Amino acid sequence: MMDYPKRLIEVDLPIKRISAHARREKSIRHGHISTLHIWWARRPLAACRAVICAALWPDPADPLCPESFRQAARTWMRQWAANHLTLLEAESLKRFLGYQKDPGKLDDNEELRCALLDFIADFANWDNSTRWEYLQTARALTQTAHEALGGLPGTRPLVVDPFAGGGAIPLEALRVGADAFASDLNPVAVLLNKVVLEYIPKYGQQLADEVRKWGEWVKKEAEKELAEFYPKDPDGATPIAYLWARTIRCEGPGCGAEVPLIRSLWLAKKGNRSVALRLIPNRKEKRVDFEIIENARGRDVGEGTVRRGSATCPICGYTTPVASVRRQLKERRGGTADARLFCVVTTRPGQQGRFYRLPTERDLGAVKKAAAELERRQREHQGPLSLVPDEALPVMSGVFNAPIYGHDTWGSLFTPRQALAMLTLTRTLFKLREKLNGMLENGLEIAILCSLALTLNKVAERLTSLSRYDTSAKMSGIIGIFSGQRLPMVWDFGEGNPLLDRSSGWEQCLKWHLDVLSECSKLDLYCGNVIASSALAHPLSNDIANCVFTDPPYYNAVPYADLSDFFYVWLRRTIGNCYPDLFADPLTPKEEEICEMAGWDPDRYPHKDGKWFEQKMTQAMAEGWRILNPAGVGVVVFAHKSTDGWEAMLQAMIDAGWTITASWPIDTEMSTRLRARNSAALASSIHLVCRPRINSDGSGQTDNIGDWRDVLQELPRRIHDWLPRLAKEGVVGADAIFACLGPALEVFSRYSRVEKASGEVVTLKEYLEHVWAAVAREALGMIFEGADATGFEEDARLTAMWLWTLSTGPNGNSHTRNQLEFGLEAEERDDGEEASRPAKISGFVLEYDAARKIAQGLGAHLENLASLVEVKGETARLLPVAERSRYLFGKGTSQPGGRKKKQPVQMQIFGPGAGAKGEEGEAGEMPAFSPGATVLDRLHQSMLLFGTGRGEALKRFLVEEGAGRDPRLWRLAQALSALYPASSEEKRWVDGVLVRKKGLGF
Ligand SMILES: C[S@@+](CC[C@H](N)C(=O)[O-])C[C@H]1O[C@@H](n2cnc3c(N)ncnc32)[C@H](O)[C@@H]1O
Ligand SMILES: [Zn+2]
Repeated sequence: MMDYPKRLIEVDLPIKRISAHARREKSIRHGHISTLHIWWARRPLAACRAVICAALWPDPADPLCPESFRQAARTWMRQWAANHLTLLEAESLKRFLGYQKDPGKLDDNEELRCALLDFIADFANWDNSTRWEYLQTARALTQTAHEALGGLPGTRPLVVDPFAGGGAIPLEALRVGADAFASDLNPVAVLLNKVVLEYIPKYGQQLADEVRKWGEWVKKEAEKELAEFYPKDPDGATPIAYLWARTIRCEGPGCGAEVPLIRSLWLAKKGNRSVALRLIPNRKEKRVDFEIIENARGRDVGEGTVRRGSATCPICGYTTPVASVRRQLKERRGGTADARLFCVVTTRPGQQGRFYRLPTERDLGAVKKAAAELERRQREHQGPLSLVPDEALPVMSGVFNAPIYGHDTWGSLFTPRQALAMLTLTRTLFKLREKLNGMLENGLEIAILCSLALTLNKVAERLTSLSRYDTSAKMSGIIGIFSGQRLPMVWDFGEGNPLLDRSSGWEQCLKWHLDVLSECSKLDLYCGNVIASSALAHPLSNDIANCVFTDPPYYNAVPYADLSDFFYVWLRRTIGNCYPDLFADPLTPKEEEICEMAGWDPDRYPHKDGKWFEQKMTQAMAEGWRILNPAGVGVVVFAHKSTDGWEAMLQAMIDAGWTITASWPIDTEMSTRLRARNSAALASSIHLVCRPRINSDGSGQTDNIGDWRDVLQELPRRIHDWLPRLAKEGVVGADAIFACLGPALEVFSRYSRVEKASGEVVTLKEYLEHVWAAVAREALGMIFEGADATGFEEDARLTAMWLWTLSTGPNGNSHTRNQLEFGLEAEERDDGEEASRPAKISGFVLEYDAARKIAQGLGAHLENLASLVEVKGETARLLPVAERSRYLFGKGTSQPGGRKKKQPVQMQIFGPGAGAKGEEGEAGEMPAFSPGATVLDRLHQSMLLFGTGRGEALKRFLVEEGAGRDPRLWRLAQALSALYPASSEEKRWVDGVLVRKKGLGF
């Protein structure tokens, strides 16, 4: 191994605080690059910013840390203590007040480390991300660190992201004073990066001003052509949204009526406003008429006509099955051109709110006229590209379902009027290009056009027949086509007027864009480098990067290339010839895209399976390793969806020549919803910190063989040092397990391979089993606070460890059972595809593989614990205590009913009629039961007795039967009390038992 000073990120990182900022950032819209243009699965800037600082700055407490960096850091931190206390957050303030009183404190290097970490935590806050004081300090430290670590004076460290996507990482690199090199395979991503990393730094506010000016011009020009297709009402009201339903012919015997496909009849449902539709069967005309009900109440409002893809006829009641609905729509290419307009939403001058009316001849006439105009333009069109994109839109099972219904080109997603609006705006951009020709510097001209083309993309997202009308929104509320990362069929859709100043209109989209341009201009950034390139063959030369920080694609998480074709086909028509290289091909490049596609689309991507993904990722990691300077540092972000998946990713990194030195989970989900979905292990992204594995002479090393016994000896020591430190910071549970992987892997991955005495090579998989075991043992020691956990049977150890894994500490959201239920209930699908809607689950759920690893680490066997843990497929469920009552009390007892019914549990456990509440009135009919075999069983029995209000029985059980005389029962109760979620029954019950302890003389 090379000797180098550790970077801060290799020693510590305030992940709780950074995670909180990252979560909060998700709700920030104004000026955030995510509002420039959609990119799927963007990284929060907060996390990127903190990680880059901590990766570029050395740890002042490391013996090898250059003195010049320590001095500079000290000076800056003293300045903060002296001048900027008001800019610090409460958590940092205390420490810095101390420095203000006694600046000498910062002479201590460990203290200096804490100060820097505090600074990093506060800088992660979005509100501080443009504050000059923060920027100046961060940039000075970045520069000093770079020079101190051997960079040429006056140069900046180079941060490279070969999977740059929406540009979060390179933007943050520039922000903190590094140079950035961003590349992505995808031309749309490349354009986004160009705007942020090249155009904004180069043209600053001037770009924003020009884009505003020409954006307004575009609107005026387009309006001239389009206004007639969006007529106002004679009474002055303005239609802001048109609601459409696709239709089918009812296949009921002898019926044949036109059935509009509508998911829900509610039009507005917010506050005191509730408006709905009523369907009126018109038998004579064989169709459905509509009526609008104001002040609708729940019971007045019927069901929609379509459910999971099949359509029920309001006239004859027959349900036309999914297959026929598909066939019919397919024959009509999705049925957008002849969809039924059923409602027009308007606003009225001087009046608040929205109004709902049925369509009129005027509305229908405008639609017809638009269709005729579109046809005319298409007829007259000459040119290499079709006016409306005719590039193929492929079916991808479970992801792109709209094509099943006949939407087989990207252009087919637009109704004729929508397509006409898109063409007109596209043509206007073209005119602008001619107009600007020679007027401005060529680069600026292209930057303006690029911004406006991206703005048009934003309009496009909300101007399709897969864009829904949002009945709850405050604005005009058209939900864009990419509210998820797929293209499901949408039966009834909303069409906005693109010329209005509303969320779906040009002006509003322009505003979002301008906000970002202006906000980022303030940062005064150096120019970054952006190119289109595959990460599999990176254009940079060896050893050039000081930091490779990247967030690569993850298995089949997001089909970026296919999704982005939606935008690509329009960009190619608007600004394709400004970037001939980027837009040479009809669609985005797919061949080299690293994504596990085979499951979705075995026809186009038969070879792209999980193995292929892993191979390519190994190759990409090797490229990253190649361009990184031997003294540089790497950071790779992984989602940890399944332990398997990301064990393979770790393997890929080790195979590619990296050694892992730290790992940090940063929690980025806003709600508990996703987090709960796969229980313990989803919301966080793991940041793996790594270094090139090399000899001291700098050459790549291939033959450094580790001895398995040494590795196994060192492992528990590392975990023993690490876990309590994490706990002190509030990092517990799954987060802590993942944070332990870094140090654990450092022990293992510093070798090119580890061998047993027999010469057998130890696989990463085998090692990781040991890591989980070591973590479980260490955690258990913490849970029982020094008490010897081995005194408990396996069921108690497993229960404690299970609950600990699911806990998130005092600052996080602990996983209460209700949250788990909520998460697992989520995701609604309505396009008739087989939805794998997870069943409702109560109890404490872990991914099976994680549960198995934990159990194994504790010497427990899930197979023997069927009365405690239920395994079903991929998940393992620790049963709620109430569900164990039959097991614990024998046959005479009945299962308590669902928690939902809110029946008092005491009425249920011993069957109907048994037991009344309260000590005195306790009915004696208590079925005889024997004390459970293990401490946990006896504790659960006590908890259930308490929970059913059987105080006397509880006393008898604890005192006379002697269950309470075992001190382990109380120790376990104490431990579990700290682990059961605060709002759970178990928590209440175990505390109830504990309260009796003293009174009963234990
Ligand atoms: C997880 S995303 C990056 C997101 C980014 N960090 C952000 O915050 O927006 C992964 C990116 O990898 C890109 N990608 C996939 N295969 C690639 C390849 N072979 N070379 C370069 N980029 C690739 C995708 O286009 C996608 O933008
Ligand atoms: Zn019918």
